[in-house]
Amino acid sequence: MRLKPKLILTNLSLALMLVISPIAQSKAQSKLLPKPATNASQLAANRYDSSNDIFHPVYGKNGMVASEQGLATQVGLDILKQGGNAIDAAVAVGFALAVVLPNAGNIGGGGFMVLHDDKTGKDVAIDFREIAPAKASRDMYLDNQGNVIDGKSLFTHDASGVPGTVAGMEYALKKWGTMPLSKVLEPAIKLADKGFIVSDVLAQTLKEEKSTLGKWSASKAIFFKNGEPLKSGDLLVQKDLAKSLRLIAKQGAKAFYQGEIATKIAKEMQSHGGTMTLEDLKAYKVVERQPIIGDYRGYKVVTMPPPSSGGVHLIEILNMLEHYPIKEDGVNSAKNIHHMAESMKLAYADRSEYLGDPDFVKIPVTGLTSKAYANELVKTIDDNKARLSSNIKPGKPQPYESDQTTHFSVMDKAGNAVAVTYTLNLNFGSGIVVEGTGILLNNEMDDFSVKPGVPNAFGLVGGAANAIEAKKRPLSSMTPTIVMKNNKPWLVTGSPGGARIITTVLQSVVNTIDHEMNPAEAIITPRVHHQWLPDELRVEEGISPDTIKLLQDKGHKVVTKAPMGRIQIIQADDSGFYGYSDPRNPDGKTLGF
Ligand code: GLY
Repeated sequence: MRLKPKLILTNLSLALMLVISPIAQSKAQSKLLPKPATNASQLAANRYDSSNDIFHPVYGKNGMVASEQGLATQVGLDILKQGGNAIDAAVAVGFALAVVLPNAGNIGGGGFMVLHDDKTGKDVAIDFREIAPAKASRDMYLDNQGNVIDGKSLFTHDASGVPGTVAGMEYALKKWGTMPLSKVLEPAIKLADKGFIVSDVLAQTLKEEKSTLGKWSASKAIFFKNGEPLKSGDLLVQKDLAKSLRLIAKQGAKAFYQGEIATKIAKEMQSHGGTMTLEDLKAYKVVERQPIIGDYRGYKVVTMPPPSSGGVHLIEILNMLEHYPIKEDGVNSAKNIHHMAESMKLAYADRSEYLGDPDFVKIPVTGLTSKAYANELVKTIDDNKARLSSNIKPGKPQPYESDQTTHFSVMDKAGNAVAVTYTLNLNFGSGIVVEGTGILLNNEMDDFSVKPGVPNAFGLVGGAANAIEAKKRPLSSMTPTIVMKNNKPWLVTGSPGGARIITTVLQSVVNTIDHEMNPAEAIITPRVHHQWLPDELRVEEGISPDTIKLLQDKGHKVVTKAPMGRIQIIQADDSGFYGYSDPRNPDGKTLGF
């Protein structure tokens, strides 16, 4: 979701105070700064020293939900209050976001869930990523000359993988939830049926995607009024989506994969020459995987394995960063940013070579996430000089980029924790709504390497490991993560942001562990990103000019660009839950009780 610059500045100007000068980084100095308004009734209790912290997390004693849309957060909180556990609440939020965050929340897309089940003490990764249809093939987006056909993998009926969200939500609920599907779907159905008020942020996003959505009559019928995208303050009613959700509530995921909804998706595909068939939908399967487990300064980091690259590279970078005195070097100091950027570069270069669907390609996960490998990699990092990406591996940058997807975090009093990142890929996916269903279709096929060496919509270059194959899952960057302290969930985190998801989540972990920031401060602090190609160190506003100069002196090409990611954190200790929703999306909300 691209946010209005004005809204971003309002939030970041506060962040600037925190990080712009080395003096302002001092906690003592922070006492002099005015405190921003917070939800007073939920202001964190004494856990965070209010005289030393500038920003304060939301507090809850019994449970907490953090998402990018306040209405969906409320849905999750209500489920917790009614006695549901974190999994019940997460599934309710997942369906609610499909209604109130239509650009990224979805039932026509897919994603990943990482959960900690208190009863068994088990950590689980649930893969409900989209799957390439059986008719998909390696060169399906190339013309006769072998050139990429512009937009085919993004804005056509061929752009969609077989959606996994409905199956994923049902799977998690059946195995770890306590409530029936019909119950957790009730709020989403109501929101779709009665409608909700379009926010400034959603209105802006609809305006930006006018041409994508405006091409399709079923999409226009929902998101347009008098030929124009809905505006802020308009009521967005989704009767067809309510009907689809009701069918799922009654018949379960079967309605989506075999029943009336499946038939409608297959018909939509047939009438537009799309690749997906009824057989593809019937064949969809959720996969339960072993999460990637890392150790960072004594904390256990539980995160998403392939087909997401997120967990592998989060751990790979953390392993490298463990070699540096991050805390002593200070928040966003040139030293720290340099070490982060150099580590990120190496990890993203590996991403392009090794990562893909583990059911199709052999991925050296153990090697990439081992401490020994990190030991070797850091030997190649010069403390004073940025390494040219061209000396690591060649590739081609692409200017177009997007920042979609969404993440939500839930924790309950019993000790269950859930981190979900799911997506349609770009805003509103392909922009295509399946006639009569209200369901937007993803354009996740673009996450495959459409042609080796040619970057995808996020500028990420993929190799043969991520080539298109029938029934394969495209590589992802989504990084839902749970950090454990003394074997109990301590932090639930995750973010949207395309290629930047991994580095965004990384900084939420480093800020909370190394810099001992509370969730609010960890989120608000300006972020940096390097993805090997393009060879640029991307920073948010709020990194001081002095620091940028020091980085340039080391050889970095520093570019200041739009804010990155929208983290949703919940942190827990014996006194309760402390959470925060990234103000980079002002619609986000964390609620506890
Ligand atoms: N579609 C973005 C991702 O999966 O990383």
